[in-house]
Amino acid sequence: MGRGHKDKVAVVTGAGKGIGQAFARRLAEDGVDVAIADLEPGNETVSMVEAAGRRALACRCDVASEQSVAALKSDVEKAFGRCDILINCAGVYPQQAFDTMTFQEWRRILSINLDSAFLTSAAFVPGMKQRQWGRIVNMASSTLGSVVTGFVHYVASKGGIVGFTRALASELGPHGITVNAISPGLTRSPGTLSRKPRAGMKDMDEEFQFAANAQAIRRVEVPDDLVGTLSFLTSDDAAFITGQTINVDGGRVRS
Ligand SMILES: NC(=O)c1ccc[n+]([C@@H]2O[C@H](COP(=O)([O-])OP(=O)(O)OC[C@H]3O[C@@H](n4cnc5c(N)ncnc54)[C@H](O)[C@@H]3O)[C@@H](O)[C@H]2O)c1
Repeated sequence: MGRGHKDKVAVVTGAGKGIGQAFARRLAEDGVDVAIADLEPGNETVSMVEAAGRRALACRCDVASEQSVAALKSDVEKAFGRCDILINCAGVYPQQAFDTMTFQEWRRILSINLDSAFLTSAAFVPGMKQRQWGRIVNMASSTLGSVVTGFVHYVASKGGIVGFTRALASELGPHGITVNAISPGLTRSPGTLSRKPRAGMKDMDEEFQFAANAQAIRRVEVPDDLVGTLSFLTSDDAAFITGQTINVDGGRVRS
């Protein structure tokens, strides 16, 4: 259990599966009650949180919608009374060449991946300020520091997340609230497993191994590789770390 975790309440967006699910499970193991905010029902994650002995709340939520996030805030406050830890993990990464990208698609990705962090933070920061304690962790991506094609909207949204993280950290530092981001490399998750492999590769397993070969640690990244950093950043031990984006990518990007 991390110092300061016991009996805290977390909201984890995108916790229905993938990296967000691993985050929800780890926070529960750390002693935290967890609200699972996802488009999907999140039953599997609820079972994991409860198996760790903590309270779980499944909230059907579209993080890109102001109305839906307002309903999330109200459900969480009704069930748990507050939110101490906000993890903005919901995200999408459809591959599309820039010359076929419509403005509508650009706006959709920016809205799910970036506007969402604004909406959830706006909803839960006032309570954190009142209590003078809070932890916000956002998801960046190693694509921001790599050569990638077909992800202009996605990479732009993650660049926005890094800027949002730095700027919000400056405003919230005086209130005992830290804001950081985790930047994974290509991670095996339901989302990446369902992607079409890049040209010339026979399947995603080949692409995962290709990505692993560009890392200092040459094995495929999995969601469990990210949970230790999440646990640390949300604990009291990380109270003096804010505005940072931490690469957890097997040594792919150095900055
Ligand atoms: N997997 C990777 O290689 C990788 C690398 C870098 C960054 N990331 C980031 O990590 C996060 C999680 O990625 P993942 O690979 O676990 O994805 P995933 O597709 O496996 O899971 C994403 C979850 O987010 C939910 N979601 C999507 N849109 C939503 C919306 N509008 N409202 C609420 N929930 C929504 C989905 O239903 C799903 O449960 C994303 O922000 C992604 O950009 C992933």
